[in-house]
Amino acid sequence: MMPIGPLMKEHRLIEKMILIMRNEIEKMQQYNKANPLFIDIAVDFIRIYADRTHHGKEEDILFRDLEKKGLSPNHNKIMEELIEEHVWARNVVGKLVDAKNQYVKGKIETLSEIINLMSQLIEFYPKHIEKEDKHFFIPVMKYFTKDEQDQMLQEFWDFDKTLIHEKYEKVVESLQEK
Ligand SMILES: [Fe+2]
Ligand SMILES: [Fe+2]
Repeated sequence: MMPIGPLMKEHRLIEKMILIMRNEIEKMQQYNKANPLFIDIAVDFIRIYADRTHHGKEEDILFRDLEKKGLSPNHNKIMEELIEEHVWARNVVGKLVDAKNQYVKGKIETLSEIINLMSQLIEFYPKHIEKEDKHFFIPVMKYFTKDEQDQMLQEFWDFDKTLIHEKYEKVVESLQEK
C-alpha cells in the first residue's frame, strides 16, 4: 500500500463527520438552540482525529519528507496552501470552542456565531480533502522510491500508535487541573 492509502481512508471518515455536522447545523437553525454536547464531540473529533492524527501525519511526516525532495513550483505552492489551510481550520475550531463556552455560560446570542463557525468548517473540509485527493497526494508519490514509501507507511503506523496514549494522558491532565 502507498502511504497515501491511510490518509485517503481517514478522509472518508472526516467526510462522514462533516455530513453529521451539516445535519446538526440544520437542527440548530430549526430549533434555534445549540447542543453543547454535540459540539464537544465534534471538536474532539476534529482536534484529535482530523488535526492531530490526520494532519499530523500529513505535516510531520509526508510534508516533512516532501520538503527534502525539491518539489515542482506547483506542488510546492499546493503544499504551502495545505499547511495554511490546516492553520486556518485550527483557528476556527478554537473560535468554535470559545463561542460554545460563552453559550454554555448563558450568552445564547452566540448561537449565530456557533452556526457560522460550524458552517465554515463543513464548507472547508470537503474542498481541502478534494485538493489533497485529486491534485496532490497521487502526483507527489512519484518523488519517493518504493522503499521510501514503505518506510513512510511504517512511520505512519508508528505515529498512530502513540496517539491513543497522548489523548488519554491529556484527558487525565485536564481532569487533574479541575
Ligand atoms: Fe490536510
Ligand atoms: Fe488530509
